[in-house]
Amino acid sequence: MKTRNTLITIILPALLLASCTSDKALAPGPSLKNTFINDFLIGTALSANQIEEKDSVADVLIREQFNVLTAENIMKSLFLQPEWGKFDFRLADKLIDYGTKNKMTLVGHTLVWHSQLPRYVHRITDKDSLTEFFTNHITTVAARYDGKILGWDVVNEALNEDGTMRESIFYKLLGENYVTEAFRLAQQAAPNTELYYNDYNIEQPKKRAGAVALIKKIQDANVRIDGVGIQGHWHAGRIPLKDIEESILEYSALGLKVMITELDVELLPRNFTGADISERMKMKDDPAFNPYISGIPDSVQQQLANDYEALFKLFLKHKDKITRVTFWGVNDGQSWLNGWPVPGRTNHPLLFDREFKPKPAFYKVIGTKENVN
Ligand code: G3I
Repeated sequence: MKTRNTLITIILPALLLASCTSDKALAPGPSLKNTFINDFLIGTALSANQIEEKDSVADVLIREQFNVLTAENIMKSLFLQPEWGKFDFRLADKLIDYGTKNKMTLVGHTLVWHSQLPRYVHRITDKDSLTEFFTNHITTVAARYDGKILGWDVVNEALNEDGTMRESIFYKLLGENYVTEAFRLAQQAAPNTELYYNDYNIEQPKKRAGAVALIKKIQDANVRIDGVGIQGHWHAGRIPLKDIEESILEYSALGLKVMITELDVELLPRNFTGADISERMKMKDDPAFNPYISGIPDSVQQQLANDYEALFKLFLKHKDKITRVTFWGVNDGQSWLNGWPVPGRTNHPLLFDREFKPKPAFYKVIGTKENVN
């Protein structure tokens, strides 16, 4: 009787769940993390739902393909300190548990960013109050996860495209040394955690020069910085391979680990580059601006595959300098590029499609390893 009850209450539902999900799940095959196991970590960014394991198909894919995780949103200050002095670590702790349970490495994103700040921070107008928030936030959050995560994006996107400092609330009220101070605070609170500067377009010469100057300033102050994250929000057919290679060499020459931290290759039309979330494109209801609602034609699929192949060939060439390549999302359906810079478009920038099936780009990426070694 006991055996029969066990069959009904445990085994049958499990079998049913498996049969519901298995047609969508990735068939056993190559795995990104195993393919590049001796080269660099392969990561993805998780949404809140994925951290809470609400999507069983995504969950299978995450565990099969990736060995390092970044929270796409929930470790930003808006989510971690929604009210002044009151922290909400529930989801971030869940991410740590998820990573630990699955033997994955974790990266914190991000301690200091001008975007996705709690509303009360935007209302601060004096230096003392912002210093208090800045110090308390960095110290509390960095200390909590010290020893549990590999590294933090300590400061995110502090630069303008011309390499000058972005006039964020931190820059305006705390002064230009705020970046060094953020690293100093993080170093004190998290002595066992790697500390990174993370930005988009910092492979571009002018912005790169700004990043190099910023990094040297931190180093000259005898403050620790361990790595730099080139975000990698690029466009199909326009990957700046030469700039990327020069940047890898230049950042590495500063003694830093180089990471590609938010990789995606956009397919839809845009009239600017980068990932400044405050930028938007105004468009009429012209279908030309959302051409791939029902999928991408072969020629575009091929372009995407060739772009990813060229990128991974370059990453492998410099695998002694690159420690991690993280995709910004698990599959196309999750990508932030469906909603930005034009809301409601259908983008296809990642290696897995909306059904979590590997695209030709996935196999080209796997193939780079076969062709190199
Ligand atoms: O939390 C609210 C939720 O309550 C509400 O129901 C929902 C309705 O739209 O919005 C939710 O907030 C969204 C948030 O993501 C969490 O899902 C925001 O609207 C949305 O704008 C926000 O977008 C994120 C963006 O950062 C914000 O700046 C993207 O998911 C995330 O991929 C993106 O990531 C950034 C990196 O952190 C830094 N580099 C650039 C990269 C792309 O912008």
